[in-house]
Amino acid sequence: MKQFISVHDVTDIDALVAKALAYKAEPFKDRTLGVGKRIGLLFLNPSLRTRLSTQIAAKNIGMEAIVFNVDKEGWALEFEEGAIMSGNTVEHVKDAAPILGNYFDILCIRTFPSLKNREDDYSELYITEFIKYCGVPVVSLESATLHPLQSLTDVITIKEQLNQNPLSGNPKPKVVLTWAPHVKALPQCVANSFSQWMNAWGEVDFVITHPEDYELAEQFTKGATITHNQDEALKNANFVYVKNWSTYKDYGKIYENDPGWMLTEKKLQLTNNAKVMHCLPVRRNVELSDEVLDGPNSIVTQEAANRVWAAQAVIASILEGL
Ligand code: CP
Repeated sequence: MKQFISVHDVTDIDALVAKALAYKAEPFKDRTLGVGKRIGLLFLNPSLRTRLSTQIAAKNIGMEAIVFNVDKEGWALEFEEGAIMSGNTVEHVKDAAPILGNYFDILCIRTFPSLKNREDDYSELYITEFIKYCGVPVVSLESATLHPLQSLTDVITIKEQLNQNPLSGNPKPKVVLTWAPHVKALPQCVANSFSQWMNAWGEVDFVITHPEDYELAEQFTKGATITHNQDEALKNANFVYVKNWSTYKDYGKIYENDPGWMLTEKKLQLTNNAKVMHCLPVRRNVELSDEVLDGPNSIVTQEAANRVWAAQAVIASILEGL
């Protein structure tokens, strides 16, 4: 693997999932693979799971992991080509990235979108500029439009559940991505990425449900069934993935926050005893009710724990290709 920015960097999703589950069974089986190699984790935005799981994953295979909170501890970076840097930015990515590429064998980066300018965000300027100038493999820790480590984790978690509790007759599981209310305008990254991976994996009957005007970009959703009727979508679901996102068309807005879209125990009754997923952090009793999150159908903790194995499989695959 040369980099990990989206599902397009993966030649065989099932093989990568199998690799991750093998690491889960035996975390230290490749403990010397990364000895003498260094991985840099650059955060331009906050994180709990991504930061810790990626560090643990790197250490499990012998790599030294160094975290740098660029937003708090680094110089303000400039990304615009040809910028006259007379404002607040101090260092151009053209100058910073090659240095980071010298310090590290693999560079991992988290860069959230502005949610102000769709064209800029969807051009993935920040991560693209790092890739262009750093000269080493780049792993996305969540970019402006995608969160591939989360989505790989989600596939791993669904696969693991199906291995543990196969559906009778082996039909494709019904997986529903449902929009949920939120108090803030959030990026579309997790929903885009989950859609991209579900469609590419092809092992599930994938349905997306959201209120009117919350359509995601077609480049990610193409192939899914899309409906504004949440109750209809939830019928017979085996997995329900709950996530808020702001509007894509009239970019970065909150059009409605109908609490009726929150997943409750009553709504869960419509499903086929579905497992409930969320990438976390979650706003309790806004996105998901306490009763669902604390109930037997929630697998959010298992899902978050699986972030380690997703990251370990990705980092190992890149190291194997160096
Ligand atoms: N799901 C996820 O990426 O969590 P963090 O933002 O805490 O890393």
